[in-house]
Amino acid sequence: MSPEEFRQVGHQLIDWVADYRARVAQLPVMAQTRPGDVKAQLPAYPPEEPESWYAIVRDLNQIIVPALSHWQHPQFFGYFPSNGLLSSVLGDYVSTGLGVLGLSWQSSPALTELEETVTDWVRQMLGLSNDWSGVIQDTASTSTLLALLCARERASNYSQTRGGLQAESKPLTIYVSAHSHSSVDKAALLAGFGRENIRVVPHDQNYAMCADRLARLLEDDAAAGVKPCAIVATCGTTTSTALDPIDGIGPIAHKHGLWLHVDAAMAGSAMILPECRWMWQGIEAADSVVVNAHKWLGAAFDCSLYFVRDSQHLVRVMSTNPSYLQSPTDSQVKNLRDWGLPLGRRFRALKLWFLIREQGLGGLKARLRRDLANARWLADQVSATPNWRILAPVSLQTLCLRHEPAGMNPDELDDYTLAWADRVNRSGRAYITPALLDGRWMVRVSVGAVSTEREHVRALWQLLRAEAEQLPVQARGGKP
Ligand SMILES: Cc1ncc(COP(=O)(O)O)c(C=O)c1O
Repeated sequence: MSPEEFRQVGHQLIDWVADYRARVAQLPVMAQTRPGDVKAQLPAYPPEEPESWYAIVRDLNQIIVPALSHWQHPQFFGYFPSNGLLSSVLGDYVSTGLGVLGLSWQSSPALTELEETVTDWVRQMLGLSNDWSGVIQDTASTSTLLALLCARERASNYSQTRGGLQAESKPLTIYVSAHSHSSVDKAALLAGFGRENIRVVPHDQNYAMCADRLARLLEDDAAAGVKPCAIVATCGTTTSTALDPIDGIGPIAHKHGLWLHVDAAMAGSAMILPECRWMWQGIEAADSVVVNAHKWLGAAFDCSLYFVRDSQHLVRVMSTNPSYLQSPTDSQVKNLRDWGLPLGRRFRALKLWFLIREQGLGGLKARLRRDLANARWLADQVSATPNWRILAPVSLQTLCLRHEPAGMNPDELDDYTLAWADRVNRSGRAYITPALLDGRWMVRVSVGAVSTEREHVRALWQLLRAEAEQLPVQARGGKP
């Protein structure tokens, strides 16, 4: 493809994306696709001869788009929002078009220095002190893995330079809660701690880690001869956006010399609002924090910000430095390959730079405040309606709710909740996520897609009521 052909087709595809975003509200939010439907329409073998753009775009329209669930739809209330504002989409596009890699500062100086600059912008936006340095990772899963690798190496005085964890005299333990994201468990396992050394600290009635129980567990463990290593606290848990008390946990981590990693993948975005910063009160006591700019903030996936206080330690743990990557400027610059797992680094900073400049801090704040108000409005409707319950504090923009008609036992209620949630999703008119809370099914509604306005939340509430409240009547054969 020549640059001229690219210009022609590229213009059409920019139009295509713009049209998609303009009409996405008309599409069913959840894919109405059965397993295997897509593969059945695709040839099993790659084409021998070049194909026309006409054919490629036709298949995009006819095979791919109908089999998507639409995250940018205004009625998308599933999981957590993964917003890709169009300014950020353009940043990603330019990054790919440039086709540069940040193997070292020298391999693309602007890539490194823009990343240093925008991560520092975000640090300021979040109200973090200038003791922190940031770097962009792909996902929070990777950021948390880095945190636990760094914790392991600090606690073991760089065991990687000797026999690794296998040669340690005492097992190293990690402290999490039952509401930590599954990526925390995964990181602990991948970092070699072992299932038996992951301690689950009890949580309170608001699903937040109990600092006093953590303290007790640590004393017991130290007395039992294991070596406590790290605590992972969550600011905004996945199920209910519960807030672990960072200000209570920080001093405990400090007392025992433990690494404190804060998973603020979702709630971190809210810290651009000064009125939300109480949610991570005490954050300066942490060693590392992850904030996913690719969630609520609006940077196109993937863009996870990992902040550390001791960047030299991170570099010491991650650095390899083979001769073919060394350059004369190494002593004056950051080589971001030493700040994470992969050698190759995409120019992700561009999409964050485009986003922040195009929106301004004011634009970003206004959208988040709109979403908080919409979630509050919905919570008020649910609380005021008979037989509907809000099941966890609504600290941000995610609600855990359930319709609880009289006379159902817990198992019937589970079946009923799953049934009406499925009806909502299959209607194509909204997307919600059922999840377990206290071992029972409920429905999570996560407000915060870019195009979601009050009218969409109002329509969702009508839909939830219609699907849930009609279901028992039908189940009883239509008799009221
Ligand atoms: C609190 C929390 N941590 C971590 C993650 C994992 O994020 P990622 O997909 O960036 O690895 C999620 C995903 O929703 C999350 O909610």
